[in-house]
Amino acid sequence: MIDKNVVWHEVYISKEQRTILKGHKSYILWFTGLSGSGKSTIANALEAKLYELNFHTYLLDGDNVRHGLNADLGFDEDSRVENIRRIGEVSKLFIDSGTIILSAFISPFARDREQVRTLVKDGEFIEIFVDTSLKTCEQRDPKGIYKKARDGKIKNFTGISSPYEKPIQPELHLKTDYQTIEESVNQILDYLKINGYLNA
Ligand code: ADX
Repeated sequence: MIDKNVVWHEVYISKEQRTILKGHKSYILWFTGLSGSGKSTIANALEAKLYELNFHTYLLDGDNVRHGLNADLGFDEDSRVENIRRIGEVSKLFIDSGTIILSAFISPFARDREQVRTLVKDGEFIEIFVDTSLKTCEQRDPKGIYKKARDGKIKNFTGISSPYEKPIQPELHLKTDYQTIEESVNQILDYLKINGYLNA
């Protein structure tokens, strides 16, 4: 609840002015998928490409943000909702700053992702479903956490003891069981190009 004595201040420099300075639009590239699906890997590879093209970007990663801003949150349903709510608000601030934001969070609940979409303007939220099967994620298990979850050592683990709601109509659907990181990055770049996201 916002205190009635807190009043919104208009700022002098607008998002449009910052956009002109940067030479490109700002928007959120929202990666969603299971743990170990490749969200961070693909987001990092894409960010490197965008950097080469002189775009101003920032990558927010679930594991990293949980070391700082969201260090107080766990993995029960309420914490996950709050995790995504905060990231949505932070992403909105980045858009306002004129920066392209890449967010890599499991974000397992469809309504939370849709809530972030409503925070920003039409076309500023690009949902990217990193569709890697549970089987593949579990085989990769880079952090050994699926094994711990199967052994009952981690509670509420997404895909095992907590649900993952697949996006129904994501802007981009990466079928990562069948394509390389490079192919996924190119799929995103093609989408951005065709839809005018790489123009000023
Ligand atoms: S989210 O569900 O709230 O969006 P987030 O992306 O921030 O998750 O964090 C996911 C990361 O936390 C995973 O990649 C994994 O390394 C770690 N993790 C620890 N416990 C869990 C859990 N119970 N479920 C899912 N991921 C977990």
